[in-house]
Amino acid sequence: MEHVVVTGGNRGIGLGFVYQYLEAGCEVTTTYRDESTLGNLQEISEGVEISLKALQEKYPGRLSLYQLDVTDEAGILQFASTIKKIDVLISNAGIKGYSIASTEWRDHCALHVVRDHTSDQFLRSFEVNTLALQRLMNAFWPLLSTTSNACAVYVSSGVGQTAGNDNGGYAPYRVAKAGSNMLITDCSIEFMRDWKKQKRPLHETPCAVAICPGWVRTDMGGPTARLSIEESTSGMKKVIDEVRATKKSNGLYMYDGEVVEQYIPSEVLREVFQAMESCR
Ligand SMILES: NC(=O)c1ccc[n+]([C@@H]2O[C@H](COP(=O)([O-])OP(=O)(O)OC[C@H]3O[C@@H](n4cnc5c(N)ncnc54)[C@H](OP(=O)(O)O)[C@@H]3O)[C@@H](O)[C@H]2O)c1
Repeated sequence: MEHVVVTGGNRGIGLGFVYQYLEAGCEVTTTYRDESTLGNLQEISEGVEISLKALQEKYPGRLSLYQLDVTDEAGILQFASTIKKIDVLISNAGIKGYSIASTEWRDHCALHVVRDHTSDQFLRSFEVNTLALQRLMNAFWPLLSTTSNACAVYVSSGVGQTAGNDNGGYAPYRVAKAGSNMLITDCSIEFMRDWKKQKRPLHETPCAVAICPGWVRTDMGGPTARLSIEESTSGMKKVIDEVRATKKSNGLYMYDGEVVEQYIPSEVLREVFQAMESCR
């Protein structure tokens, strides 16, 4: 049975991922911070509400919970030491980095320009949205980099695209998401390098990919967002399945599979690695 680890699964998109992978027959471990939130119901599609507690009852023995703040480096290492096998790691926990009501989110790109933000807002956003990814990848590297078809997923955002930024605003969030897109791309290259060192078949290489969930009805996205949690997370699961099956990834994906920012295709990278090998 495949094992999927999701950070921040007590609400929002993380909870949606937990549901998708339990429905698909996987074992899931997810993190939460506050035990009192575990029974909180969240609407994932019209008329369908779930909570981690309800999912534990529905799928006995397949959902494990772990208390973790992703800014706690020692806590991440401790968490990783409790996991013996991992097939998919989803780094989902995230914050906007400064407090604005989610309904005001769209207007604030014009109102909150770079110079309005404090250093603390940038640092906090970086710590949760970027550094946590690096710490998670380091902690889970020994398992991920040696597991056939493993996949590390970063839940990014379209606002992290440099080429697509035509509006400005939300700088602490944008900068952190853009940084993580680079970090997860680096990880996909490192996976390839490690796999080759192990002399294992290339069609089983672990992969790493960034996906934007779209604009989703969660506490962060607000009630007027376009997508339900179910629409977004079922779409992202399909993208992850496709990337794992084909070993092809070439950029920042949207939840529906569209590539919104082009990176070097994984097939091209593989050829580069192969060429380097034959030069030695
Ligand atoms: N919703 C959207 O429209 C949208 C669009 C683009 C990208 N995203 C990305 O999707 C991801 C999930 O967003 P969401 O909409 O589901 O947000 P959300 O409803 O606000 O949920 C955020 C989740 O992250 C957890 N979290 C925050 N800080 C944490 C920390 N320091 N340690 C551990 N967990 C922490 C929260 O835990 P607590 O309950 O303990 O606070 C919660 O589980 C984020 O990375 C976000 O940037 C969302």
